[in-house]
Amino acid sequence: MSQPRPAGVHVRTPATSANLGPGFDALGLALELYDEAEVALRDDDRVMVEIDGEGADEVPRDGSHLVVRAMRSTFEAMGKQLPGVELRCRNRIPHGRGLGSSASAIVAGVSAALVLLGQESVGSGRIDRDRVFRLAADIEGHPDNVAPCVYGGFTIAWREAEAWHALPLAPSPRLRPVVCIPEERLSTEQARGLLPDSVPHGAAAFTAGRAALLVAAVTGHPELLLDATVDRLHEAYRGPAMPASAALARELREQDGLPAVISGAGPTVLVLGNAPELAERDENPPPEGDPGRINGDQADSIRERAGKGWHIRPITIDPAGVRISSPRLWTCVEE
Ligand code: HSE
Repeated sequence: MSQPRPAGVHVRTPATSANLGPGFDALGLALELYDEAEVALRDDDRVMVEIDGEGADEVPRDGSHLVVRAMRSTFEAMGKQLPGVELRCRNRIPHGRGLGSSASAIVAGVSAALVLLGQESVGSGRIDRDRVFRLAADIEGHPDNVAPCVYGGFTIAWREAEAWHALPLAPSPRLRPVVCIPEERLSTEQARGLLPDSVPHGAAAFTAGRAALLVAAVTGHPELLLDATVDRLHEAYRGPAMPASAALARELREQDGLPAVISGAGPTVLVLGNAPELAERDENPPPEGDPGRINGDQADSIRERAGKGWHIRPITIDPAGVRISSPRLWTCVEE
């Protein structure tokens, strides 16, 4: 028996790379690689989930699916109970690689829930990003992926007085990220479990200075990225859990002079290259001998350096973050 279909919503959410070296749990970048989710409420309490693409064979197809959990949390935050849902996902962000697949699912669930609660209107195509960000950060527990996923571009996120905050900033148009995605996975939970309770004062002071430099480098001085991406708070502690990624990042930095970091909790390696040929679009043109540049040849040289088993992908920065629109993917059917 088919049900009358409630009005649904289509949500598009970008991949994200967090930390960017010294910006642990604070800095993030949105990338032009998108998950799509489409959701409608049902009149009963059934949860129906269809998934295409990344994670299709692994993620649950019931109420424990992360998009549905985020919807449930959002309904509860508004004093409502989530009824049954129909969810269709087209996933492109690889799972367990440090590219923000969880943040993408959470932001999709929160955004969809707000629309279906009548708190946001698809017609305008706009959404209250601050509210989505706060609800999503509460669910994720750290804000550095959800912030760029919601706002796009480059973000600084923090928590103060029990509240989440984010500042979106425009990244330099010269920035040209390349992601090096391995076959292996590492869960964020496992990677966070490798961190020590405390670090030496010198490591904290060093990293604070580089994080400040990193904000300047990403927003206008990408020629400083090699120095600006050195971290002493997390990457070395996690290296043993992703030795191939740690080795690739080190070789790219030390032998090729490229600002390579571990993306989020890993094991993807992110190269924050910059493209001097784009300098005419930049208010801060590159100085002579600009290091860390990326062009087609260098993407090939990264590919060569990485060798087999890595997917090397030059990628542009997503400027806009989460986007809502009318449904377009519907295929859920009654069994
Ligand atoms: N800042 C987080 C971490 C990002 O490194 O654990 C996880 O996606």
